[in-house]
Formats: sequence, C-alpha cells, structure tokens
Amino acid sequence: MPMANILVVEDDEVFSQLLSMHLEDLEHTPSVANSLAQARKLLMEITPDLILLDQQLPDGFGMDLLKEIKAEKDAPPVIMVTGVSDNTLVIEAMKVGAYDFVRKPMDELELDTTLANALQSHRLSRKVHAISKTTGEVVTLNQIVGKSPQITHLLKTIGSVAASDASVLITGESGTGKEVVARAIHHHSERTGLFLPVNCSAIVENLLESELFGHEKGSFTGADRRKLGKFELAAEGTLFLDELGELPLGLQAKLLRVLQEGTFERVGGTETLHTSTRIIAATNRKLQAMVDDGRFREDLFYRLNVVNIALPPLRERMEDLPLLIEHLLRKINQRLHTHAEKISEAAWTRMNNYDWPGNVRELENVLTRAAVLCRDDTITPGLLGLVEEQHAPAPPGNKDGNEPELVSLDEIEKRHVGKILEYTRWHKGNACEILGISRPALERRIKKYGFDHSLKN
Ligand SMILES: Nc1ncnc2c1ncn2[C@@H]1O[C@H](COP(=O)(O)OP(=O)(O)OP(=O)(O)O)[C@@H](O)[C@H]1O
Ligand SMILES: [Mg+2]
Repeated sequence: MPMANILVVEDDEVFSQLLSMHLEDLEHTPSVANSLAQARKLLMEITPDLILLDQQLPDGFGMDLLKEIKAEKDAPPVIMVTGVSDNTLVIEAMKVGAYDFVRKPMDELELDTTLANALQSHRLSRKVHAISKTTGEVVTLNQIVGKSPQITHLLKTIGSVAASDASVLITGESGTGKEVVARAIHHHSERTGLFLPVNCSAIVENLLESELFGHEKGSFTGADRRKLGKFELAAEGTLFLDELGELPLGLQAKLLRVLQEGTFERVGGTETLHTSTRIIAATNRKLQAMVDDGRFREDLFYRLNVVNIALPPLRERMEDLPLLIEHLLRKINQRLHTHAEKISEAAWTRMNNYDWPGNVRELENVLTRAAVLCRDDTITPGLLGLVEEQHAPAPPGNKDGNEPELVSLDEIEKRHVGKILEYTRWHKGNACEILGISRPALERRIKKYGFDHSLKN
C-alpha cells in the first residue's frame, strides 16, 4: 500500500499520538487536529487521502464535520472513531457516507484492514453516495442494543441500505430482533409513509389477501364496504411482511407482481392500483430449503432477497448480554413501575451460562417475570425460572456442545437418579422403569448417594 496523507481528528492526546506512531510505522504521513476548528483549518491547507474522525470533540461532533466533508466533491474516505456506544450514530454516519466505523479501544489489525480497504477504494475513486439528512431523533423505544462485532456490522448494513428502496429480507431465529431491525431501516430511510407490519401466518389466505390489497364492497360475504389494504395505507412507507415463509403460494404470485410491476388490484376490484411501498420481509424459516422443495417461489425469493440481513442468535453475541439486560430492565421498570435494578452474581452466572433459544425476546420475558416477582431491587437466580433441562436439550454434562463437563460418571449417575426420583415424585416403581434398573439396584443408589425423600418435602 503506497503511503498516504492521513488526517487524524482526535482530542485525546495520548490516543492521537499512539495512532500517529502507528500510522508512521505503516509509512503514512499523519497530521493531527485536536478539535473541529483545527480540523477545518487544516483541511484548507492539506488534502488528506483519508480522515480518521472522532465523534466526541471539545467543540462539537465529528458527525457535523463528516457532513461538511461529504458535501464536497471527491471527498476522501472518512473512518469514524468512537468510544461511545451510540448505535444510532453508526447508522447515521454510514448513511451520510462514512466509509467505515471503528470503536475504541481499537483493534490494530482491524484498523489496518479498514485503512487499506478505504485507501484502495478511494484510489479506484469509487463514488461514495452521500445523502445528507439531518435528523436529531433517536430510536429510543426500539433501539438496537449491542456492541459486538455482529451488531456493529448490522448497524453498518442498516445505514447503507436505509436510504435505498431495495427490498430487504431479514432472517434469524425467533426473538433475534427482526422487527426491531425492520423498524430501524424504515426510521432511517427517507420514506414519508407509515411502517406497517403484516403477519403472513396469522390470518387465513383470503383474509390475508384483503389485508394486503384491500377489497371492494360486496366482494365476499361480510364485505359490506370497501376496505383499503396495507399496500394502499403504507403508500410511500414500508410494508413489513413478517413470517414470510407462511405466505400461501397464491399470494406469493400476487406479491411478485407488486414487486415486478408495482401494481395490484383490490379483492373483487378491476381498477389497477400503483404502489411504491418498500417491502421488508422477515422469516425464521429456511427459505432456501422451501424454495428447493417448491414451497416458496424462487423468483419471489430473489426479488425479496436483494439485501439479506441475517441476525445472529443471542448465544453467539453473549458480550452484549450486560448491555441488553440493562436496556431491557430500564424498559421493563418504566413500563411496569417495577424496581429491579440489579442482578445478583449467581443470577448473572445463570444467565451467562444459559443458551437462550428464544433469544432477546426470551431474555425480555425472563427479566419481566423476575422484575415482577422481585421483592427488593435485586434479581436472584430463583426469580429467573431458568430450568436448563427445559430449554436446552443438551446431552448430560455438555451444556454448549463443545466443552465436556469434567465430572465423573458417578456424579452424572447421582444427578440423573436424583432428577428421576424428583420427576416421579419418589414413585420407586416408575423410577426403576425409567432408569431400567431393578428395585434393589435403585435402593442401593438411594443409599449410596444419600438421597432422602423426607428432606425433599
Ligand atoms: N438488539 C436488540 N436490542 C434491543 N432490544 C432488542 C434487540 N433485539 C431484540 N430486541 C427486543 O426483543 C424483542 C423481540 O424482538 P423482535 O420482535 O424484533 O424479534 P423477532 O426476530 O421479530 O422475533 P419473532 O421471530 O419471535 O417474531 C423485542 O421486544 C425487541 O425490542
Ligand atoms: Mg417478529
């Protein structure tokens, strides 16, 4: 990579010095500005090939300078740097045309790769699409919380697709935040209309058709007046097709037509209507597999899957757990007037070891229950109701499928026999049946492990 002039806009002197040294090691020429004012002044004198821009500066926000820079022709790539976990900022910065985003503390390798990519793309003078839009609002209710690499990547994707009209297909296990993401895309778009969700699985086919496209008076029994469908109501907005995998084949054809031609008719109507509603769809099913066995139209799949956003399950981004808990508890306490503010060490361990098959939604449910049952301000493990066997059908002693639990066979036998006795409520005949051992064999084990029925009840 040939050397480049790099402007570092950063008020933390230690950090900017370290960064300069690192850039010099890479044979670049750094210049440093400690404030927006200094950066503006420097930009009149030099033309950097790249700018590393901090968000929090003594005299304002990096975001403001980013907008100014991007309003110029042939603006250099700007990499935003922030220590604050402000996720709305990531989305907005990407929309305004930031090349990329790095968080402090910075990973050197990540920074080097990002720098190399940015300089490369600038050299190829790829057009950076700059959309300047000033919005002060913040998504508070449905904020996307997290600082894991997966969430950072997600925010960047949202920022880059928000302003376009491209269809988006969001996939992910249930409770991973598909609807939150769909709302965020709409919120950050330039769309003036409404965000309207339609659940494709909730209603029978002909009602769903009328829900989507509307119907004329008298088109079926009970249709006593004209009804507008979601496509008409959303107009210049966004239609969110939830549970897309459940869309019946007949309606798949009609939806395809909307995507291809932007036209449709109300049920029982003859007038052809036009729409420019944007479509965001979501599913927790494997659509590709459904395409393969003919349950989902391939052409529709490709039309909807222009941009695919695959949401990671919570267990793959457990570093976000503390932030999520904090965010959700705040939300729950506000809504239900509860006072659960702390998590005991043991409850935390329990939550951290659990694998959350129902993802963020399950986390929210567990916390809601705990907050309601909580007597003081601290959530203890008993309030969580997380019985591992219930949710995680993992082989014994193997909680996450990778690491074997280092215990003896005796220990496993002890636990298992104990569980079965509890399950059968000490009906020894049934316990023997399940365990496949004789009555004396069971008695021997009860004695060996010191199980005592009277202690249990
Ligand atoms: N990254 C996140 N940050 C904050 N809250 C989140 C996040 N992801 C999900 N949630 C919350 O979790 C709950 C479930 O999210 P959402 O309804 O978007 O999930 P979903 O993928 O549509 O789930 P389902 O498949 O069950 O419909 C919501 O209350 C949402 O606010
Ligand atoms: Mg959903």
